Amino acid sequence: MEDPTNMPPETRARLDRTGAFVIGDKVQLSDIKGRLHTITLKEGGEFHSHRGVLRHETLIGQPDGSVVKDSQGTEYQALRPLYSDYMLSMPRGAAIVYPKDAAQILMWGDIFPGARVLEAGVGSGGLTTALLRAVGEQGSVHSIERREDFAEIARMNVETFFGGEHPAWNLSVGSFQDYAPEIPGVIGEDGVGTIDRVVLDMLAPWECVETAAQVLVPGGVFLAYVATVTQMSRTVEALRDHGEFTEPRAWESFVRTWHLEGLAVRPDHRMNAHTGFLLTARRTAPGTQALTRVRRPAPGSHDEEELNCPENEGFGGGGGEWTEKDLGERGVSARKVRRAKRDIRQGRDR
Ligand SMILES: C[S@@+](CC[C@H](N)C(=O)[O-])C[C@H]1O[C@@H](n2cnc3c(N)ncnc32)[C@H](O)[C@@H]1O
Repeated sequence: MEDPTNMPPETRARLDRTGAFVIGDKVQLSDIKGRLHTITLKEGGEFHSHRGVLRHETLIGQPDGSVVKDSQGTEYQALRPLYSDYMLSMPRGAAIVYPKDAAQILMWGDIFPGARVLEAGVGSGGLTTALLRAVGEQGSVHSIERREDFAEIARMNVETFFGGEHPAWNLSVGSFQDYAPEIPGVIGEDGVGTIDRVVLDMLAPWECVETAAQVLVPGGVFLAYVATVTQMSRTVEALRDHGEFTEPRAWESFVRTWHLEGLAVRPDHRMNAHTGFLLTARRTAPGTQALTRVRRPAPGSHDEEELNCPENEGFGGGGGEWTEKDLGERGVSARKVRRAKRDIRQGRDR
């Protein structure tokens, strides 16, 4: 059998069911207060804290999840970092996709074992690692990044995570729109795309819609992760204008962690309120216009002529004021106002 210290950690963890720590492993140490320190086990290595010294050899050969003591008797829980730990701590050039969004991307982007995925941009490689884990060695992820320096950071992060090159990964420097159709085999001899999933995390995904349509298989999934509503809106309109994508679906997710101490079991006071929006649509059969729902215009909607009128900037009357109708909201009736006033006079609560 191959020397386990030369194997990627994932491979080793699969083979070594005892999960004993070996030289080269990253280990996350947490003290009684939950403070985290990540170390890489080395021969003769030591971890120094203001309390004492923990010699790496104390950990080598111990099973994952052990509790070890330093020279002063301070205890540490030792665990191999999970993927989410690694993702959050990886050195970054560009901002990463957070684990909560990566999880949504894998589910709603329908990233399956064996899938052929095109990804752009790559940034720090955070999402790339999640995609590679999901497609496995039988699938393929071709990542395209505009900036050479970011591509280099991504390569280092991905290869550190997998403990070496991943057989299913290709990384190219270029713009998705120019580079993707040039990749050999991405468009079949019949002119139809062969890519199952296109995953975009970049400033202007709407510029990539035409290319995504060229490279996707019929029924393939287009997924974009964007930070702002304006990006989301432009991408939705580009998908609709293209005509060969199903009606887009957009959402965001919130994760609220909980404080668990004694009887104080409650949501944490702080949360990450905004990361980004997700958007998916599916490619129709080539040459087939998507079936779109016929909608009656909402009472507050405006026709093209009105939207383009310079005087009212498309919203409200000539004065450019926004009305509740412009926002698709129901107005407050005179009756409701009278009732509220009456309730106040009578000291009645809602
Ligand atoms: C927010 S970062 C991506 C982060 C990445 N998903 C992660 O988890 O680490 C956006 C990246 O897209 C790249 N980019 C922007 N437009 C692009 C395009 N048209 N083609 C390829 N890369 C592009 C940028 O250079 C940047 O590195």
